[in-house]
Amino acid sequence: MEISLKINGKEINANVKPNTLLSTFIRENLNLTGTHIGCDTSQCGACAIHLNGDAVKSCAYLAVQADGAEIVTIEGISNGDELHPMQQAFHENHGLQCGYCTPGMVMSAIKLVENNPKMTEDDIRKGLEGNICRCTGYHNIVKSIKDAATVMGR
Ligand code: FES
Ligand code: FES
Repeated sequence: MEISLKINGKEINANVKPNTLLSTFIRENLNLTGTHIGCDTSQCGACAIHLNGDAVKSCAYLAVQADGAEIVTIEGISNGDELHPMQQAFHENHGLQCGYCTPGMVMSAIKLVENNPKMTEDDIRKGLEGNICRCTGYHNIVKSIKDAATVMGR
């Protein structure tokens, strides 16, 4: 099936099978491998992207459902060499260990902060329920998001 969409500011047209997952399409057809696959049950959040302005799990969508959509992946959030404030905060607060969950965490966290820059630590923990990290114990992730919120809320 023919689909057209905008991804990281670039218009693309593609031919996809009706059963191709959006996550697979992004990684394998577009080579945007920053979107990670950490489960096959739509639980881990490693595949989170922005779809029409919302953070979603890309493995929970078919590529054909993204026809006409505007998508941003982790590759599309920096401003050239300048990291997005959320990336910068993860870097400065050691908000990662192995890094596998990190792209999804960052993409989900950006929308959490955009929707509520004044989140408490509890709000952040609740907001991250759809993102699983197997390494960090979440403490530095929460700290990173709090820090980023002060920069993004300015
Ligand atoms: Fe999408 Fe785990 S790979 S939620
Ligand atoms: Fe390893 Fe989160 S840093 S899974």
